[in-house]
Amino acid sequence: MHSSAPSSETVRLSTPRALLRLMPYVRPVSGRLALGALSALVGAIISLLIPIALEWVVAGPIAQRETWPIVLGAGLVLLLGLGEAAMVWLRRWFVLNPSMTVEYGMRTDFYAKLQRLPVAFHDRWQSGQLLSRMMQDIGLIRRWLAFGLILLLVNILTIIIGTGLLFRWHWLLGVIFLVTSLPLWVQGYLFDQKYGILSRLSQDQAGDLATSVEESVHGIRVLKAFGRGKFALSKFTRQAETLRETEIKKARADGSIWFWLVLMPAIAFGLCLLAGIWLASQGQMSVAELFAFFAMATVLRWPIESIGFLFSFLLDARTATDRVFEVFDEIDTITDAPDAVAMPTSRGRLAFRGAHFRYQDAGAHEADLLNGIDLELEPGETMALVGLTGSGKTTLTTLPTRLYDVTGGAVTLDGVDVREMRLTDLRRHIAMAFEDATLFSASVRTNVLLGRPELDPHGPEGERVLREALQIAQAGFVDDLPEGTETVIGEEGMSLSGGQRQRLALARAVAAAPSVLVLDDPLSALDVDTEALVEAALREVLANTTALIVAHRPSTVALADRVALLEAGRVTAVGTHSDLLATSEHYRYVISSLENEARDKQEAEAGR
Ligand SMILES: Nc1ncnc2c1ncn2[C@@H]1O[C@H](COP(=O)(O)OP(=O)(O)OP(=O)(O)O)[C@@H](O)[C@H]1O
Ligand SMILES: [Mg+2]
Repeated sequence: MHSSAPSSETVRLSTPRALLRLMPYVRPVSGRLALGALSALVGAIISLLIPIALEWVVAGPIAQRETWPIVLGAGLVLLLGLGEAAMVWLRRWFVLNPSMTVEYGMRTDFYAKLQRLPVAFHDRWQSGQLLSRMMQDIGLIRRWLAFGLILLLVNILTIIIGTGLLFRWHWLLGVIFLVTSLPLWVQGYLFDQKYGILSRLSQDQAGDLATSVEESVHGIRVLKAFGRGKFALSKFTRQAETLRETEIKKARADGSIWFWLVLMPAIAFGLCLLAGIWLASQGQMSVAELFAFFAMATVLRWPIESIGFLFSFLLDARTATDRVFEVFDEIDTITDAPDAVAMPTSRGRLAFRGAHFRYQDAGAHEADLLNGIDLELEPGETMALVGLTGSGKTTLTTLPTRLYDVTGGAVTLDGVDVREMRLTDLRRHIAMAFEDATLFSASVRTNVLLGRPELDPHGPEGERVLREALQIAQAGFVDDLPEGTETVIGEEGMSLSGGQRQRLALARAVAAAPSVLVLDDPLSALDVDTEALVEAALREVLANTTALIVAHRPSTVALADRVALLEAGRVTAVGTHSDLLATSEHYRYVISSLENEARDKQEAEAGR
């Protein structure tokens, strides 16, 4: 179901414009970031003053062999050094907090966005891609804001001012210094082209790798049971190898720019030394000036060398920003309409009116999976939905709560199109339980009361709702758990059996006290006796709750007032169980196959 991450086909923005998209997050902390940049700049200016101070010491006090001024001069240089160090400390202190704030804000928004995006989005995107964007890419943006951005700006300024000052001592030396740096600019441009692509590739591949890890950790039992650990490992190794190759290419690109970054200043140094000595011997330049020139060239060395690293950092940050904003740019298709109707209460009249649905990845020539569903549930009615496997029953149950939107026709609650209702209201009125019961890493109590955020879970009302729901779902087993209803279950806690999880998921749906209950085969993992108990209890609740139940067993069908038969994308028959048995050939066929399945299961249980 997962293809690789959809790549954006949008126009490629220039790097500065791509990074400007971070502005909304940066603006609130821009004051402190600016102070950080200012500290860095002051530090840089101080470092540029050192050669000038040295020139003064060499030309004046040292040449005249006066002791006190020499000590004073040395003290001044030392003081400048201290000042520079203090500025480095200040810069770090200023930027730490704002960068963390940006990271926190982006992560929270990213999470909220993932929650808002429709199920169809999650069908298309690999979980590992989302995970790596949320953790790795946003973390990289934080580090870049804290160090990369400021250092890049300040170092470029330092280089410009410093090179200007070089001309102060002698124009020829300045020109030599400048000309030898030209190849760096050319290399830097080429590097930008190559590295940007590699950076994107490596970050995408890291996301694929995260998906693999997640999938194999989730599926560890299957892999072990089928002895396919090696298979998973070889797939993982292949992906890791691809990532390694990309990283090596990246490092090569990095290495080639470093080659120039180290080589060119060295050449510049050598040439300047030759020219400088010649100029000094010609009397065109004093020794103090020559000395100061080299001191300045030394000061400029680190900013120049760091440019390569800061440049690749910039491109990595740009890629990370692109990857994060690809998710932010996804349009929430399932949202409140601007004029959404508030619906504080509901009577629970659910209807499908000529509802069509097809999955996005369905072939163009295929007929719609749901091809004009007409079905009406009276308030309080229990309707069973039956159909062959793959006929679209689960798909149909996702439409009332708008996990997916219909692609034609409508679903209505109390006569109002569900798309015109406020989502919060809609989802409070309709509760669901799925065959595949998902529980969260939290206590039993929190899991069951998930749909009742307004209740104090430990208050008397919370306790009453919890108890009632557990009773209906026959989930008394929770009292035998080590800490009763406070036991933490799910990924971080106690592992429960399939039937136990299903009963808790059912309790969760019941506790939501909805006016419509949509159950997708919620009892499949229960043994026949427990199922009968749950059904008896459900019948009580269902008396005043509208229910749509996908049934895979004849006994579940018996619970229903009426049965709807799904066939070839349409509801072809609606009626009581005995009516349909009498009138519909396809219904008899479906029921007999359900009976066979149920019998097989019962025999398997008996034989256990
Ligand atoms: N997220 C999805 N994206 C694309 N196609 C899907 C998706 N989920 C289901 N399908 C396809 O839709 C069809 C109907 O699936 P659905 O799960 O609704 O059937 P079902 O009637 O519930 O079957 P079962 O009785 O086995 O539970 C299947 O052909 C399936 O491959
Ligand atoms: Mg199904």
